[in-house]
Amino acid sequence: MKLFLDTANVDQVREVASWGVLDGVTTNPSLVMKEGKDFRATVLAMCELAPNVSAQVTATDAEGMIKQGEEYSSWHKNIVVKVPMTTEGLKAVKHFAQKKIRTNVTLVFSVPQAILAAKAGASIISPFIGRLDDAGEEGMALIAEIMEVWSHSDFRTEVLVASTRHPRHIVDAARIGAHICTIPYDVFAKLPKHPLTDIGLKKFQDDWKKVAG
Ligand code: G3P
Repeated sequence: MKLFLDTANVDQVREVASWGVLDGVTTNPSLVMKEGKDFRATVLAMCELAPNVSAQVTATDAEGMIKQGEEYSSWHKNIVVKVPMTTEGLKAVKHFAQKKIRTNVTLVFSVPQAILAAKAGASIISPFIGRLDDAGEEGMALIAEIMEVWSHSDFRTEVLVASTRHPRHIVDAARIGAHICTIPYDVFAKLPKHPLTDIGLKKFQDDWKKVAG
């Protein structure tokens, strides 16, 4: 499973990229707003650090999405155009697929939406599991259903588990066989840690001091 960082903070991308485990970055307008930095400069800086950077269009009509998406994709080859899951978005995705521009269809909350996005030619779909959990539903059950459908289909669209909130989401996504998981920085930072690793390392260091000293 590929691991993406869900952020608009370049320092966070640099940090996780330095661990040698980063496959991509997803941004969205809310994350960009939180950082308050120039969008193009942010995306371009991230493209130097990761091979896939999703940049979201803000237009709501297909024509506007196509104009924005074509501009984004002209900035850098690593940019994936992120498009909302609407019928206008589907039209734009079809256009981008014909022009070999990679897309990530965002705000997917159901299997029918996932199927339509794949049929339109999306490179990636992003079901939001945390927000389904927030609404009292079982977000990971949606991923399981989508992967079941994919196992009977010839869709090449990658399933990206988005809106993850804790390390267990990453484990469950991997067990189900999702292709990609995007992870906020605070959750990503928890993944390398285990208290027994810290305790074990301290003991090795203390014992080695006794050997050496
Ligand atoms: O990639 C989508 C993700 O940013 C949404 O996460 O936590 O706002 O539901 P969240």
